[in-house]
Amino acid sequence: MTSAAATPLTQDELKTLVGQAALAYVVPGSIVGVGTGSTVNKFIDALASMKGQIKGAVSSSVASTVRLKALGIEVFDSNDVPELAVYIDGADEIDGQGYMIKGGGAALTREKIVAAQSKQFVCIVDDSKLVQALGKFPLPVEVIPMAAKRIAAQFAAMGGTATLRMKDGTPLVTDNGQHILDVTGLQITEPLAFESQVNQWPGVVTVGVFAHQKAQVCLMATAGGVKTLNY
Ligand code: 5RP
Repeated sequence: MTSAAATPLTQDELKTLVGQAALAYVVPGSIVGVGTGSTVNKFIDALASMKGQIKGAVSSSVASTVRLKALGIEVFDSNDVPELAVYIDGADEIDGQGYMIKGGGAALTREKIVAAQSKQFVCIVDDSKLVQALGKFPLPVEVIPMAAKRIAAQFAAMGGTATLRMKDGTPLVTDNGQHILDVTGLQITEPLAFESQVNQWPGVVTVGVFAHQKAQVCLMATAGGVKTLNY
């Protein structure tokens, strides 16, 4: 008699698995840096089981703040917390060195700020996010609205196509009151240099390449369980 093949986990179940696995990186008694997105939402839900063991969180978006508070987790202003032991966040792409593209949820600027104040970035993803080289996912760039056209032209000169992100028929407005350009057609072979270059363009608030704030650990949910990659 042959046994029935196991049903593969859905992407949602993989996200739940990796969200729960991230609890192992939460330092008891500390304030935790919390990212944004559907994978992080699973982490936040899991974190509720530890809320008596942590002081609270620094959040990277209004959406995560609302979710954390609804579960009874205190949210601190990042200015009141000099350093965080760990920042836990998802990614749109991650490569073999821990470099990422982020910002699919439009929270890239606050995500980079909280990552920068954290000693360790733990990235939580399912294995669909692993890439050889960054650039297949449209690169989010938060921009000051009056500079959007000029910045789009600068990406065009690099071979990219920038599109203003829309929501309900009007340009999406970020938590910081700015706009997002999504750029396709780029091959980001040198993430550190690329991030530094684009960040210098007038009107760029944040480019969604996370190379200077890369992940030190990636927890990757796969059909065979959660893999840990250390960079
Ligand atoms: C939000 C982000 C997210 O981390 C990224 O978009 C991944 O999200 P999800 O876990 O929903 O796939 O950068 O700005």
